[in-house]
Amino acid sequence: MKVLIVGGGGREHALAWKFSLSPRVKKIFCAPGNAGIAALAECVNIQSDNVPAILDLVRSEKIDLTVVGPEAPLVAGLVDALEHEGYPVFGPRRKAAEIEGSKVLAKEIMLKYDIPTAWYGVFDNAEQAASYIKKIGGPCVVKADGLAAGKGVIVAEDVDTALASVDLIMKQRAFGAAGDRIIVEECLRGEEASILAFTDGEHVIPMLPAQDHKRVYDDDRGPNTGGMGAYAPAPVMTAALQKEALEKILIPTVRGMAAEGRPYRGILYAGLMITDRGPYVLEYNARFGDPEAQPILMMLESDLADVLEALLAGELNQVDLRWNSGASVCVVLSSGGYPGNYRKGDIITGLHDMPENVMAFHAGTGLKGNQVVTAGGRVLGITALAENIPAAINLAYQGVSKVHYEGMHYRKDIGKKALK
Ligand code: AMP
Ligand code: GLY
Repeated sequence: MKVLIVGGGGREHALAWKFSLSPRVKKIFCAPGNAGIAALAECVNIQSDNVPAILDLVRSEKIDLTVVGPEAPLVAGLVDALEHEGYPVFGPRRKAAEIEGSKVLAKEIMLKYDIPTAWYGVFDNAEQAASYIKKIGGPCVVKADGLAAGKGVIVAEDVDTALASVDLIMKQRAFGAAGDRIIVEECLRGEEASILAFTDGEHVIPMLPAQDHKRVYDDDRGPNTGGMGAYAPAPVMTAALQKEALEKILIPTVRGMAAEGRPYRGILYAGLMITDRGPYVLEYNARFGDPEAQPILMMLESDLADVLEALLAGELNQVDLRWNSGASVCVVLSSGGYPGNYRKGDIITGLHDMPENVMAFHAGTGLKGNQVVTAGGRVLGITALAENIPAAINLAYQGVSKVHYEGMHYRKDIGKKALK
């Protein structure tokens, strides 16, 4: 089987690695890929949201299965375009991916199908948003409706910060058209967790719960990023909470999307706040999380090609997802300055000195001659598999200690919350 992976981050490197272990996968392509993926796959220089060029590639290489990593091509309708020509593709169609592409749509679905989430108001007018904020007071959360690379959410501790956020999103248009509409919502308190599930539109199979680390500095300080590290399983999601999330959130969402004429097939990711009233949805993603995919895929024992094939046949109920025992921890190494401005082109050393059971998944890396260099904000995800979380934390940081490049930054507390 020939597999094409669309994307070029750490998540896609983990996908390529996982497919490379499948005896059924004979060749892997990746568009556009990165320096690490290039060791496992043929990287083709096509940007992940270039739908016509990807379609051409699938036709010319006769790809048997296309797997879409990031959200932009999903929202741009890549899955619809491939399906239209009869090519097997894993990911939700455009109308289903809108559950990530529009936070307003996500809220409407949750309200209509009684899925627990923060109360909220929707505004396309900055003055009306401001008077609502003054009425409800702080703290509250201000969110741009559209895609903003994980940066369109501001948790405002007081009214002034919330008003400044409205100004930033609607008047200064910091996220462009993604901020034409905003949501102002209740600030929830608790611990966060991510629950991802495979679904064929009918059956829903949850994966191991994971926890992301969104802020750039230790102890959850500093601005939000795409994610500075993750681990799985996340002990905060007890068996009882996992059951509650499946029954009250994941299944009703999949059913609700079908009832809305947006049948959902692919990965449904619910970002949760575990409140004292139970799990509440903060957001949905229509794909694997990055970096959550890295530890989840290291924990997955089943052959991913088998799972996706059953899913595309609508036979996910035939699949018995098998997991490794123990735990996996991923520490993201970023460029200095990320999520603000950062340098590119610094030489990375130590990548071949990883201990056993540690993968150095590449994110923003490139090749300069035959040297691997930094090429993005998040550079690497050092991901370890061990018998429990403390051992996996130790092993991941042993891997981190081997790597060096100018300006390297990482959090030193990944996984710490799991030890409480
Ligand atoms: P989102 O992209 O919607 O997941 O938001 C990014 C981050 O903002 C989340 O991971 C939370 O840390 C925070 N957040 C979003 N919504 C809320 C909320 N209603 N209450 C508290 N924190 C929130
Ligand atoms: N790590 C969060 C995300 O992938 O959106």
